[in-house]
Amino acid sequence: MKYLIGIDIGTSGTKSVLFNTDSSVVRSSSAEYPLYQPQNGWAEQSPEDWWEATVTTLKAITEDIEAADIAGIGLSGQMHGLVMLDSENSVIRPAIIWCDGRTGAECVEITERIGAERLIELTANPALTGFTASKIMWVKNHEPQNYARCRKILLPKDYIRFRLSGTYAAEMSDAAGMQLLNVRERRWSDEVLDKLGIDRELLADVFEAPYISSYVSDEAAALTGLKAGTPIAGGAGDNAAAAVGTGTVVDGRAFTTIGTSGVVYAHTSQMLLDPGGRIHTFCSAVPGEWHVMGVTQSAGLSLRWFRDTFCEKEKKKAAELGCDPYDIMTSEAAKSPIGCSRLLYLPYLMGERTPHLDSNARGVFFGLSAVHDKKDMIRAVLEGVSFALNDSAGILRGIGAEISDMTICGGGAASPMWRRMLCDIFGCPVKITVSKEGAALGAAILAGVGVGIWPSVPKACAELVTYREPMSPDPTAGAEYAKYYKIYRSLYPALRESYAKLAEIK
Ligand code: XUL
Repeated sequence: MKYLIGIDIGTSGTKSVLFNTDSSVVRSSSAEYPLYQPQNGWAEQSPEDWWEATVTTLKAITEDIEAADIAGIGLSGQMHGLVMLDSENSVIRPAIIWCDGRTGAECVEITERIGAERLIELTANPALTGFTASKIMWVKNHEPQNYARCRKILLPKDYIRFRLSGTYAAEMSDAAGMQLLNVRERRWSDEVLDKLGIDRELLADVFEAPYISSYVSDEAAALTGLKAGTPIAGGAGDNAAAAVGTGTVVDGRAFTTIGTSGVVYAHTSQMLLDPGGRIHTFCSAVPGEWHVMGVTQSAGLSLRWFRDTFCEKEKKKAAELGCDPYDIMTSEAAKSPIGCSRLLYLPYLMGERTPHLDSNARGVFFGLSAVHDKKDMIRAVLEGVSFALNDSAGILRGIGAEISDMTICGGGAASPMWRRMLCDIFGCPVKITVSKEGAALGAAILAGVGVGIWPSVPKACAELVTYREPMSPDPTAGAEYAKYYKIYRSLYPALRESYAKLAEIK
């Protein structure tokens, strides 16, 4: 057996990667799909789009490969998204995904039904609009006809597992983000399910990340080029999978990822909780262990929004030069000084989780003057996202998570300028892995552990994950950023009430 496959069902697209068992990439393929925003603050995707992208990318990476040489498949995916299937296994409504903020009232309802303290005791987290439980309650409350038809509830990657294998299976790191799991005991919480009136039968059985929970079906084999019977591991939510891909699987290790969302993540073998509920405590992909993470909702999403709204010129130039529009945008931003000549950006386009837990928050450029131009605005976006990540890093440090050994990953890690900025703002060395595949590599490693190539996730990571030389923080730049960060921190409290009033306008 020569190969492992990692499939990452992201928010902007799906990526499938064929790896050798030494973790080198044989072939990689990506396919994009849309994000639907039927109302301000809502976010939906079509599970059929995820499946089509999975089939297209799998076909591309398995072409000319002996499918019998693929030892196993691992799945990674955007967390929290609600996929509902009817008795024929058809998708009932578009998936309500992680960055959707429509469920504020349902979060209040969940907290009232279970009790704020008891909810944290059981699920390790307060009720948040991002988590799946409030999305389920929203469908119950607003679309009872859809809820009545529902026979199975799956997360995005678990839906793809179902399409690949015909098996319903859930997995611990992702299930923890549903707010229906007893996160300490690693089993569905009967108490939460009873109090919310959700039938246990709607959920799939839940397994640890490396467990081989299903096998490729004949039907999926015919569509994808895979061999029927190829084992599929539990896999992991995209952040827990990126943790494996970056070797963040032992105490003392942390990573920051800039994908559509931005996350600062620390591994912890003992369960850690933030009494303020500002960061999440979930199961990790290492069986029996956990992680804590802070999430900013619109990290890469902010830059993508800026690119698609204001950067037609840069897109055109990139097409001519055969490079990525983001490269052109960041090289323009590099011409603006630290602090962007006194311009700040709050990246709250889709509300915010850490540290504000406020789905009404929205984006702001603060300090705009006629002196500013596009380069300053792009730099302000990069700095604003980095400040939001620094909020998470500060809270993690505050609850005792060790975050001095920091890896940077995700699409944003490709930018040396963004890495330097994070290094100076965090004030700690940062490094990148030699492999650029983060979550997809993590998923493939989990499959490798599942089929017995390695005895454990940490042992596999120790053998496979290697790093480039770390970058050291520049204290002078750090002191300059600190002046702006202080003002950044003061802006949300000044705007909180206005955000709530804005959200009331229909
Ligand atoms: C984590 C979260 C996001 C998604 C994005 O809680 O909501 O990081 O997983 O893919």
